[in-house]
Amino acid sequence: MKYGFFDDNNKEYVITTPKTPLPWINYLGCTDFFTLISNTCGGYTFYKDAKLLRMTRYRYNDTTLDTNGKYFYIKDGDTIWNPGWQPTKTELDSYECRHGIGYSKFTGAKNDIEAALVTFVPIGDPVELTKVTLTNKGNAKKDIQLFSYVEWCLWNADDDMKNYQRNLSIGEVEVVDSTIYHKTEYRERRNHYAVYSVNAKIDAFETSRDEFRGAYNGPDKPAAVIAGKLNSTIASGWYPIASHQLNVSLNPGESKTFVFALGYVENAEDDKWEKPGVINKKKADALLAKYQTTEDFDKAFDGLCKYWNELLSKFHIASKDEHVNRMVNIWNQYQCMVTFNMSRSASYYETGIGRGMGFRDSCQDLLGFVHLIPDRARERIIDIASTQFQDGSAYHQYQPLTKKGNSDIGSGFNDDPLWLIAGTSAYIRETGDTSILEEMVPYDNDMSVATTLMEHLKRSFNYIVNHKGPHDLPLIGRADWNDCLNLNCFSEHPGESFQCFGPSEGPVAESVFIAGMFVKYGREYAALAKLMGDTAEEARVLAEVDKMIAAIEKDGWDGEWFVRAYDAYSQKIGSKECEEGQIYIEPQGMCVMAGVGVDDGNAKKALDSVKEKLDTKYGVMILQPAYTRYHLELGEITSYPPGYKENAGIFCHNNPWISIAETCIGRGDRAFEVYKKTCPSYIEDISEIHRTEPYVYSQMVAGADAKFHGEAKNSWLTGTAAWTFTNISQYILGIYPTLEGLSVNPCTPAEFGDFNVTRVYRGVTYNIEIKNPNKVQKGVASLLVDGKEIQGNIIPFDGSKDTVNVIATMR
Ligand code: BGC
Ligand code: NOJ
Repeated sequence: MKYGFFDDNNKEYVITTPKTPLPWINYLGCTDFFTLISNTCGGYTFYKDAKLLRMTRYRYNDTTLDTNGKYFYIKDGDTIWNPGWQPTKTELDSYECRHGIGYSKFTGAKNDIEAALVTFVPIGDPVELTKVTLTNKGNAKKDIQLFSYVEWCLWNADDDMKNYQRNLSIGEVEVVDSTIYHKTEYRERRNHYAVYSVNAKIDAFETSRDEFRGAYNGPDKPAAVIAGKLNSTIASGWYPIASHQLNVSLNPGESKTFVFALGYVENAEDDKWEKPGVINKKKADALLAKYQTTEDFDKAFDGLCKYWNELLSKFHIASKDEHVNRMVNIWNQYQCMVTFNMSRSASYYETGIGRGMGFRDSCQDLLGFVHLIPDRARERIIDIASTQFQDGSAYHQYQPLTKKGNSDIGSGFNDDPLWLIAGTSAYIRETGDTSILEEMVPYDNDMSVATTLMEHLKRSFNYIVNHKGPHDLPLIGRADWNDCLNLNCFSEHPGESFQCFGPSEGPVAESVFIAGMFVKYGREYAALAKLMGDTAEEARVLAEVDKMIAAIEKDGWDGEWFVRAYDAYSQKIGSKECEEGQIYIEPQGMCVMAGVGVDDGNAKKALDSVKEKLDTKYGVMILQPAYTRYHLELGEITSYPPGYKENAGIFCHNNPWISIAETCIGRGDRAFEVYKKTCPSYIEDISEIHRTEPYVYSQMVAGADAKFHGEAKNSWLTGTAAWTFTNISQYILGIYPTLEGLSVNPCTPAEFGDFNVTRVYRGVTYNIEIKNPNKVQKGVASLLVDGKEIQGNIIPFDGSKDTVNVIATMR
């Protein structure tokens, strides 16, 4: 069942009912100022950091209820309604929500009034703009009232929902004409405030939530709206809000348009005040002055669309498969930008107060983002590396505002260091910019111990070399990619965090997954060393990689698949010897991606085992059989009921690893089959089962053991976005950036047909035509570059050209 449809021409998903199975959201904002917005106008806004600079309040723990948002109420006689349905939930005569790329549009109609909202964050300004157009579609004159509504968050979102003994006394606002200024804590250490304004003369305003709603009412029945009149009160403490009242008369057929602006303003420390107690509004006024007319709004909106069209034109495919075209050209790349911006901090499943930017997460997000805005990827790499410790290990996350590492989710995740190599290698393969390797980068933000980024990568690599266990495999530390495989934790008491409790490292528990990563990213690091002329380092690294391959072959192979790990007693995990959890997805994907077993047939065996034991119609499960009880020696993974999350859920993030691994052994049919199973557009038809947004990936789909098999959770912020884009663009479609130039080596289903890709690479546009006359799954027989046949798969980079025309014919 569907709740809408894709409008590919406009790059929109059109939702046709407000009653989606879960709120279906979108993100507004591209750099610093962000809004989450659901299909019923729920959501919230923050500047840079969802925890520390939260502008508007959201209510958690009630996913489908989805309250608090930026609402508009219309009072038409006795009927009060919202164009996005929430929060009054008055039945509408018509409803439509269009989530687009960086904007959302809502159209609601009731009793001959149509209200159309367009909302977005313009490029370059910390402000969210909403254009509200009211139209009288009937034959009689209408006198209606329009009310806006936002509830301010007192900046620190964590404190905001905990510290009432203080917070209920500190709220402060100012109002001048049509602008409401939220200035809580500005009197002391803050130098920023928020504004909410409209480009028309208002009839009244409200800044006190209690006045607006009245006692015992929720936002669904606001007393002041019911009365048709705001009281223009200035809040003092309690819950400050911002609401404007506009009385609007509309003749039959007439439309009126208003532009609302919600902005963030920062003043210099010595320029905070206009006069004692009155905030300096110069910057706010200047910001608002830019968006006073519909024309200003439309121009900025065009700017946003242009910006995105240009970004999305960097990778464009035309094939006969509309799902692939749509995901690759629009939604997958868009989600990559969102995960790059948010990491795992703010979504409808991540509160914005729990997790900052993940070290591992952000490095992986780079893989899908780097072709879009390489400069921002560069900056991100430096930020991440700056939080690394001197021994090469890492804080598991850092706060976007301060850019400093924090220990909230522990440290000592021993895969972290290698992800820095992965991200940096992807950046250099994309851009050719080796200067980044010579940048001086601090450790733990301490510039006095800074070294080059190249030295950071060396320490990353050496960290693994120096932390090996009894089988010469890497020690797992707190956990590796699978945060829930906590082999040194031994937690017996509720409330202890699996991520922080216990020693950060034990001397025995080892990870075959990290071993696979070490081979893959060790080789990428060796290639960088070679590129920088350090052949001694290259040789040293490759020798270490060979040792690791030998260790995997000796103790990491179980006969039919790769072992997952060794626990603190040196017992195998993910082996046929185990009672539960006999096979895990991660080492099958990572080891084969690293090339282990490709020549001796083990890769094929491992992937066949995956198909036989882990596959379902909704995707590949993370492990089988599911753990049926809590295992002290395994940790959080066994805390989940069977079929959910890391305990045998379909963890979408590592499905592309399997798909990529399949391309490594040339099985395009199977690679694509795996790709399709979790691909949002392919499963749009089962939205009532899948339940999350049909235009983006979710972190998890419930596995075969779960009651709700096929149901997804945790949409948007997942490494799935970057890894799937990497999979489809670089491995299945086969356009892979190498240090020397673009490589063309597709691995598609036999029936996929011919296709064309436009790829902007290091400033040069490659028009690539791929022909598959014999319906093979892999292998390029001839590669014509501007009419000349070249040997091999790599098109040597030539920056003197603007355009390169390529014809690849598969064998
Ligand atoms: C989740 C993981 C997550 C970890 C750290 C666990 O509860 O299952 O997916 O990475 O917490 O936040
Ligand atoms: C979510 C985390 O963000 C990601 O880094 C991790 O690898 C997965 N959970 C698996 O546990």
